Amino acid sequence: MVSSAFAVLSLVSAAAAEFHVVRHVSHTPRALEPAVIPPAEFVVPITSTAPRRQSKKTNLASLRKKLSPTGNTAVLEGADLDQEYLTDVTIGGQTFTAIVDTGSSDTWLIKKNFRCFNLTGFPEDTETCGFGSEGFDTAASPTFKNFPNVSFNISYGDGEFLSGPVGFDTVSVGGLAVTQQEIGTPDFAAWNGDGVNSGLIGLAYASLTSVFNTTDPTKASRANHIPYDPFFFTAVKRGAVKNPFFSLALNRGPLLVNVTEDKNLGFLAFGGMPPVALDDKTAVTVPVQGYSATDGNPTSAPDPNAVFFYYTADVEGYTFPGSTKLNTKNNNTILDSGTTLNYLPSAVAEAYNAQFVPKATFDEESGLYFVDCKAKVPPFSVKLGGKSFPIDARDQILLGGTDDDGKPICISGTQSGGEDTPENVFILGDVFLHNVVSTFDIKANEMTVTRRKKY
Ligand SMILES: *[C@@H]1O[C@H](CO)[C@@H](O)[C@H](O)[C@H]1NC(C)=O
Ligand SMILES: *[C@@H]1O[C@H](CO)[C@@H](O)[C@H](O)[C@H]1NC(C)=O
Ligand SMILES: *[C@@H]1O[C@H](CO)[C@@H](O)[C@H](O)[C@H]1NC(C)=O
Ligand SMILES: *[C@@H]1O[C@H](CO)[C@@H](O)[C@H](O)[C@H]1NC(C)=O
Ligand SMILES: *[C@@H]1O[C@H](CO)[C@@H](O)[C@H](O)[C@H]1NC(C)=O
Ligand SMILES: *[C@@H]1O[C@H](CO)[C@@H](O)[C@H](O)[C@H]1NC(C)=O
Repeated sequence: MVSSAFAVLSLVSAAAAEFHVVRHVSHTPRALEPAVIPPAEFVVPITSTAPRRQSKKTNLASLRKKLSPTGNTAVLEGADLDQEYLTDVTIGGQTFTAIVDTGSSDTWLIKKNFRCFNLTGFPEDTETCGFGSEGFDTAASPTFKNFPNVSFNISYGDGEFLSGPVGFDTVSVGGLAVTQQEIGTPDFAAWNGDGVNSGLIGLAYASLTSVFNTTDPTKASRANHIPYDPFFFTAVKRGAVKNPFFSLALNRGPLLVNVTEDKNLGFLAFGGMPPVALDDKTAVTVPVQGYSATDGNPTSAPDPNAVFFYYTADVEGYTFPGSTKLNTKNNNTILDSGTTLNYLPSAVAEAYNAQFVPKATFDEESGLYFVDCKAKVPPFSVKLGGKSFPIDARDQILLGGTDDDGKPICISGTQSGGEDTPENVFILGDVFLHNVVSTFDIKANEMTVTRRKKY
């Protein structure tokens, strides 16, 4: 999930000028000698559940309208379109299911007795927010400490937003436990939940955290932003995990099957590699791209003042039939477990989608490429640090719902993220991540991408 890449990035990137983060990394990809990564110290299985992202729901709604002006097309309520990657987190002795997100940095749990709103801020019943529990009961936690006079305020790329108090508590994920971890405990939520998750584990950098030095969350600004160490960063600083990296293996779910929850969707591994089969020959270590502290744009040269937000990569290019005619090189592309699809520069998405047989078609209203569910999928590879990482054809067609006749409607796994300009953040989402193990080294500020054996 992108923590409001567009709105918050500008807010936070300017704030970051006050918090210089040194970039101890060469800009040259280490294509030939990928880092040797041992098995993980802590491994936690990942599960998934029903569709929930508002962006996807909006897509479905516009799709439904398009296909059925009367609005009575059935949209599947399964795990079909959207795969959310979830795992258990224990906070102050209470266990919740939370989203695993490399596209944001805060760990937060909805607070008990929260108030629910819709995306335009009108009050709703708490059920409307669709959390999987009553929420975190801070009063019942023997280890919870309030952080007075500050507030949490976050909004995500799909329009959801939350705010409320901040505290510290013991956070434990997959056996990795950190005491006095700063967390958000929002009591004001505009959230389109799945009835399972109660919060989120953010794994990106401190500059992207969302705590502000004001008791009034509506007064959050770059001037009162107080960045803090996210969960994994604290774990590394405290020596709770030996190696300063974590890995994700996100399994491709049963995309065309009507299931509401899948217990075997991969692993989040702290300190090393998850237990999945690898094709080690295709592995590369590349620097995490920083952002200029002055203008917030991605830096293309080593910059000691660069600030890190996301796990951003400099992509050498995309390879598919006809791609040599295009300049497919681009940067400002993030590896984001919280986003289902790939959102690439518009020219790349357009050229690739034209290669499906039959061609995928662009729908102006929803801004999405739709494709015949049985279309022939053109090959597609992502070139990073001199190596090519193919995306399995099964990841390039996603079931979006059914039409009036119960026939499936599909969308392309490769969508447009806008023009290739510095303001646009492109996303390699689960469509890409299903094919690799991604390892994020928060000390070296490097990412290692290792191809998985076909599964
Ligand atoms: C929120 O509720 C208000 C009042 O019912 C309604 O006017 C508005 O359209 C709703 N917003 C969304 C995003 O559903
Ligand atoms: C919080 O704010 C109140 C009132 O502004 C002040 O009295 C109190 O000292 C502050 N507490 C801390 C810990 O800063
Ligand atoms: C919040 O701001 C006040 C004064 O504006 C300052 O004294 C205090 O140290 C700040 N708190 C934090 C946590 O930065
Ligand atoms: C979060 O902060 C922004 C200002 O940066 C404000 O407009 C918004 O209302 C705040 N959200 C909440 C839920 O308080
Ligand atoms: C999908 O699952 C739902 C809920 O379990 C069920 O009502 C529905 O009939 C199923 N649809 C198909 C096509 O199997
Ligand atoms: C990456 O971004 C920077 C800053 O926007 C730009 O100057 C540079 O040309 C870009 N590099 C590539 C390969 O797109």
